[in-house]
This record gives sequence, C-alpha cells and structure tokens, in this order.
Amino acid sequence: MTFYIITLFPEYFASALNCGQLKKAREKGLIKFIFINPRDFTEDKHKTVDDKPYGGGAGMVMMLPPLDRALQQTPQNSYKILLSPKGKLFSQEKAKILAKQKDIVLICGRYEGIDARLEEMYSLDVLSVGDYVLNGGESAALNIIEAISRLLPGFMSKEESFKEDSFFNDILEYPHYTRPEEYKGYKVPQVLLSGHHSKILKWKRQKSLEITLKNRPELLIKTYLNQEDREFLKKLPKRELGKNLYLTLLHYPVLDKFKKVSTTSLTNLDIHDISRVSCTYGLGGYFLVTPLQDQQKLAKRLLEHWTKGPSSKLNTDRARALELVEVAANLDEVVEKIKLKTGQPPVLIATSAREGEISFLKIRKLLESKPVLLILGTGHGLAKEILKKADFIIQPICFGRKYNHLSVRSAAAIMVDRILGEFW
Ligand SMILES: C[S@@+](CC[C@H](N)C(=O)[O-])C[C@H]1O[C@@H](n2cnc3c(N)ncnc32)[C@H](O)[C@@H]1O
Repeated sequence: MTFYIITLFPEYFASALNCGQLKKAREKGLIKFIFINPRDFTEDKHKTVDDKPYGGGAGMVMMLPPLDRALQQTPQNSYKILLSPKGKLFSQEKAKILAKQKDIVLICGRYEGIDARLEEMYSLDVLSVGDYVLNGGESAALNIIEAISRLLPGFMSKEESFKEDSFFNDILEYPHYTRPEEYKGYKVPQVLLSGHHSKILKWKRQKSLEITLKNRPELLIKTYLNQEDREFLKKLPKRELGKNLYLTLLHYPVLDKFKKVSTTSLTNLDIHDISRVSCTYGLGGYFLVTPLQDQQKLAKRLLEHWTKGPSSKLNTDRARALELVEVAANLDEVVEKIKLKTGQPPVLIATSAREGEISFLKIRKLLESKPVLLILGTGHGLAKEILKKADFIIQPICFGRKYNHLSVRSAAAIMVDRILGEFW
C-alpha cells in the first residue's frame, strides 16, 4: 500500500514512520510513503500557500492552485482523503474498508483549513479523527496510517491480535495482565491462571461488555448481544435515570378541534399503554389528570380491578405496570405528589407537536440531578396556560418530515425512548 501524504510539514512524520512496527512494515515493503509538499507547487517567489478568507473571518486558508497541483502528482484512481474536523468520524470499520485500497492520499490541512472548492474538484472522502480541533491534519493522518497499516496482512506477527482489539467486534477489549502474578498485593484474576479455556473466554467476553458499558455504552447498540450477554449486562449496576422521569396525561385543560379549552374523557388504551411504557423504562410514575370526579372514580375502579381485583393474579405483568398509575385532579396536585416522593419539585416539560426548545439529550442530563415531569396532552394538545406554566417545551417528534400526527401513546413511547435510550 502506498500512502501519498500532502503536507506543508513532511518533517512532522520523520520519527513516527521510522520506529516500531511502521518502520518494520516499510522495510518489509508492505507500506510506502510519498510526501508531496504544496509549497513546491507555488508560482511566486515567496512560495505562498495561504491567503485571507473571502467574506472575512479569522485566520488564513490554504489556496487551491498549489493543492490542485500537488494532487495531480498522485495516481488518478487513488483513494483521496481530506483530514478535517468537519468530516465523518474515522473508525475501525472505516480502517477495515480502507485496508483494501492500493493507493491512499491523505491531504493535511493547516491554518483555518483548505479552499472548499478542492472537494468539488476531486472526489474526496472527508474524515475527522475526533470531535476536537488539531493544529493540522498531520497527526490525524498518522492516526489513519497506523489504524490501516496494522490491518494489512503481514503487518502483525499474529493476525489474531488485531481481531481481539477494541472495536474490531464493535465493543472494547478486555483487560490484559502479565507477570508477576502478584505485585504489591495486586493479583491477576484467578480465572486467567486456571487454564480453563472456556471459562477464560467467558471472562474475557464479560469484561469486554463491562468496560464498554462503563466507558462507551453507546457502542453496545452497534453490536450483537446474545441472550447470555444481555443477562450479564442486566446484572451490572446501572444508572437508573428513568426513576427520575414522571409522565402525566392531562384531560384538562386541553384544546378541542376548534382550539377551545375543554375537557376530554379518559381512554382505556392511554392508561394501559403509557403505564406499560413507564414500567418498561423504569419510570418514577404516571399520573392521570382529570378534574371530573366521575372520571376519577372510573379510573380508580379500573386501576383497582387490574392491581388488586381478579385480573391482578391473571395478568401480573399488567398489574405491575398499572401500579405505577395515580389519579390527580390537576397538575399542581401531581407536582405536590412528586415533591412528596422525591423532596424536590419536578422540572415541568410540556409536549407540543408544534413548538419546542429543549432537546431529548438535555432532559436526560436533567434527570441526573432532578425529577422531571413530562406533561402530555389529550384532545388537540395542551392549553396555553400549561405551556406557559412549563419550564420547557420539548422538541417535537418530526423525523425531519412535515407529518407528525402521532397518538399521545406513540409520542410518549418515542419521547421516553429518545430521552432514556437503552438502559445504559
Ligand atoms: C486548525 S484546523 C482548522 C479547523 C477549522 N477551522 C474548523 O473549525 O473546522 C487545521 C487543520 O487541522 C486538521 N484537523 C484539525 N482537527 C482535525 C480532526 N479532528 N480530524 C482531522 N483533521 C483535523 C484539518 O486538516 C484542518 O484543516
């Protein structure tokens, strides 16, 4: 594989490419590096490679002509990468794909970056190595060179070593230990000394899952988890963020189809389905709000039937879900009940299909320290007085489309899932 590195600072690479495994791989002829300096392709006596940005702004921009001429020195069908914090995130998955290429060009930016027209002129894959800003693309290019090279056949002494690496199977690698068996009282886990192959494999898998859950829980969504993995993960201590989240479904004051404030009737499905969502995600509680006494009575009768009456034994799962439901006459009563339970008034978050100002992620953050009450409306949505009373209005669920007419049950489920996601 040949790497063509377009850089204003070829000397940056000198030590990195001349030691360890990269040096060996070069000597074996597995990888080759060709440096092209855009400064060698300038036409003025000062060898100018940068200029002020059009439209103003801080810093300088790398000019197009020297970069274009530098790129013309690379093979036409080479895979051309532009390093930029604005690019797609580079990953092990990407490294695996790139390891199949013959010629890779890495364009290292400096200053504020390069003239954007270079991307239009060439088909460039714009890649970032992380959500931070470096002085230049050189260290990012080195990251990519190392990640790709170690996947090339013959680079490592044992191919398996990279197959067990972090990310190769989407999750993080288990911890390693070596001699001595004990150091200052710190011991190597007994199982690794047992010689019991299947037990060691199981331990390694579980440690991988544990470390991933602790440091990079979002990776667990990417990987396939079998029944044994899921059972193991369930047993690990987890942050019960859901406990701080409460739902309330208001039947007053809500809007009717003429946008007038009115009262709606309870709906069996809303009671059952939202309580099941609440139970699945481990929420603190679900409050039905109606000022009508006959409706309150009806709700209480229904709840008794499922939680204490004959159905409680026939359908214990349903009983568990409906045990989370309480009835209240108005929003203030709900707030009081939560205050009593948690010692703090909840942050009030109203829901609306139209407006919104707080993201799902911010609500998740709030849950780390406070109870949060998500206020759901029936009819044609919550009345203005509730929207005004709320501390925030949650961003609507619209999936980037105009149509977003969801039932309150579906909206509740999606919102709770977007706030809490998987249990990690
Ligand atoms: C100071 S940075 C320019 C940052 C640019 N103004 C921005 O905010 O997107 C200069 C050069 O460093 C490289 N660079 C900086 N951070 C990077 C990252 N996270 N991944 C890849 N390249 C990066 C790019 O080549 C970039 O053109």
